[in-house]
Amino acid sequence: MQNKTKKKSSFKAGMYLLETLTSGMYNEPLSIYREYLQNAVDSIDLISSKNQPTLRKVNIDLEPIERRIRIYDNGVGVPTEIAEQTLSAIGSSNKTGKGLRGFRGIGRLGGIAFSEKTIYRTKAEGENVESIQEWNCRELRKLLSDSQRSSMTLKEVFKHVTTFYQKNSTLPADSYFEVILEGVSSFRNYTLDIEKVRNYLSQVAPVTFNPDEFSHSKTINDYLLKNLNHYCRYNIKLNGEPIYKPYRDKVKITKKAYDYIDNIKLFEIKIRDAPVGYGWYGERRNLLGSIIKGDGSSGIRVRVGNILLGDAHLLDGCFREPRFNSYLIGEIHVSHPELIPNSRRDDFVDNEMKTLFYNGVEREIGIPISKEIRLRSRVKSKSIFTPDRQVKNEADSIVHIGREGKTSKARQPGSISEGILVSDVLNSIKTICGNCPRLSAVLSILNRSS
Ligand SMILES: Nc1ncnc2c1ncn2[C@@H]1O[C@H](COP(=O)(O)OP(=O)(O)O)[C@@H](O)[C@H]1O
Ligand SMILES: [Mg+2]
Repeated sequence: MQNKTKKKSSFKAGMYLLETLTSGMYNEPLSIYREYLQNAVDSIDLISSKNQPTLRKVNIDLEPIERRIRIYDNGVGVPTEIAEQTLSAIGSSNKTGKGLRGFRGIGRLGGIAFSEKTIYRTKAEGENVESIQEWNCRELRKLLSDSQRSSMTLKEVFKHVTTFYQKNSTLPADSYFEVILEGVSSFRNYTLDIEKVRNYLSQVAPVTFNPDEFSHSKTINDYLLKNLNHYCRYNIKLNGEPIYKPYRDKVKITKKAYDYIDNIKLFEIKIRDAPVGYGWYGERRNLLGSIIKGDGSSGIRVRVGNILLGDAHLLDGCFREPRFNSYLIGEIHVSHPELIPNSRRDDFVDNEMKTLFYNGVEREIGIPISKEIRLRSRVKSKSIFTPDRQVKNEADSIVHIGREGKTSKARQPGSISEGILVSDVLNSIKTICGNCPRLSAVLSILNRSS
């Protein structure tokens, strides 16, 4: 029989892991707001129902001149006894299995890449002690770029750049968690640009619709509340102003032209006959042309825990032409334990459910809507390009010309529309280039594209 001697483990977690988990995690600096919000609303969800009468809120305050960001919530906070251990864990979370949004134990590190100092300040209800952890992010960056220190372990670096302390608090009834980022800098200072942050949050954060601007809010809320186990909307303010989702009854098609959302279509995405997501989309009056990007509302978007997954283009591949997705406004709220956001939250974790989900979206939404867009476009083209050169159906200020998706302002009746020009141009080319050996090839290309 062989004698097995237990060898000391040679496992080592090097300091560059921290770089991967901070600056390496997110392409978009604004993603740090999503991570901090996710923590804040998870913490609000943990408040027991008896404490609900207190208004639960998240306040995000940007101070561009001081280069400071504060994100404060009055959720459960972290109890004194476990604060140090909780804030010192990396890549491990006590949220696992609780149906909360975070679970990988890295989200709070996002701001470290964009600040000189990151501070977490927290307190649980009924306690007299506030716990504080500070990260010296400037020192961390110095270590990471110093080749002499490259053999330091993750643990050594963590000890070197963080400080934890507790102090008495005079407000025992309060519970809170506050993230303070000091000395913030990001590419073109995105993270301190209040309008950019507002625009981002309105698309990503789990906030309410603005009932004054979107008259279908109630229909959608009633449907989602009825069907989802957990459809929560939170009171989130940016520099004192509430944030709402970007949906309105009017959608912008060009800089000057609008289309209208006349109705809301409610739907389910099913996998093997069981619903895994509930959604809505706005039925547009004209459905001609995509909604412009700056509107912030285009595309059927996926939400998990009412937080955006990916961006406006995540579902583009489910349509016959990717751009058709941006003809629409809508959401799919996904709730299935196997549809799990990946760590960058730009898609789901790869598994069979993910494929089945995208197939379901294509079947239920992508194909029928693509057909509708093509049909409407054909009908519109026919009604505009009449032989007597009259432009009909001028109810709106845009018309569809030639190929789908290209729009231009309607011309006055009697003027030459661009649809007519295509055939005129073909005839002129034939007359002018009658002897050219490449004429037939040119004509067939033009015919195909018109
Ligand atoms: N706003 C908050 N309120 C209460 N606890 C928080 C808050 N933010 C972070 N925490 C605590 O810190 C832990 C680590 O957060 P994070 O790194 O984002 O990982 P995760 O959210 O995946 O657990 C959380 O699990 C939670 O215990
Ligand atoms: Mg988190």
